[in-house]
Amino acid sequence: MEALKQRIQRDGKIRGNNEVLKVDSFLNHQMDVAFLEEIGREFRRRFAGCQVDRILTIEASGIGIACLAAPAFDHVPVVFAKKNKTKNIDGNVYLSQVESFTQGKRPYPIFVSKEFLHPGERVLLIDDFLANGSALSALIDLVHQAGAQVVGAGIVIEKAFQPGGALIRGKGVRVESLARIESMDEEDGITFCD
Ligand code: G4P
Ligand code: NA
Ligand code: NA
Repeated sequence: MEALKQRIQRDGKIRGNNEVLKVDSFLNHQMDVAFLEEIGREFRRRFAGCQVDRILTIEASGIGIACLAAPAFDHVPVVFAKKNKTKNIDGNVYLSQVESFTQGKRPYPIFVSKEFLHPGERVLLIDDFLANGSALSALIDLVHQAGAQVVGAGIVIEKAFQPGGALIRGKGVRVESLARIESMDEEDGITFCD
């Protein structure tokens, strides 16, 4: 998506030893609603002809993006997997574990109530970043536990130099990333794939 690449070039800030892209001005802190609506329409074009019964994302950053994409999918319900509320988890949830590759960060559980994912449903996954793919892997696991089907994953920004894209595509899941970063460097800037 050309407008997204331009926006990333203009507003993105490279941090964390050239591994972290900050896009707080339109995606992760302040949210550019009109632009995110356009992103939602682009997801619809990428998954044209696919039946989508529900969108699944993960708190926190995925929620706003998924909600602004839902209108392009006939306002299907958006469900977000919850994190870290282990005390409130009863038996009526699908539960999975997000592995952590970040040093010093522990794996953590995520869950969705069985009320909001059903057998046979076609579920589109949406998230802001694809990096290591651990969050997306856990979302896929939740969908499979429910006996539902993954239509694919719509990702705003894929850091293609990290292993998540290959991991998720290797599971046979269609991943549509609107911008794929090949490399980024504080001195040389950002290069996109293709
Ligand atoms: P994964 O989602 O591919 O498994 O990514 P990973 O575990 O590597 O990343 C951990 C968190 O950091 C995720 O957010 C992910 O969206 C976010 N993230 C990864 N790379 C970047 C990046 O370059 N820039 C920004 N801004 N975020 C990145 P999270 O833990 O789910 O938290 P939340 O922010 O959605 O609440
Ligand atoms: Na995220
Ligand atoms: Na995030």
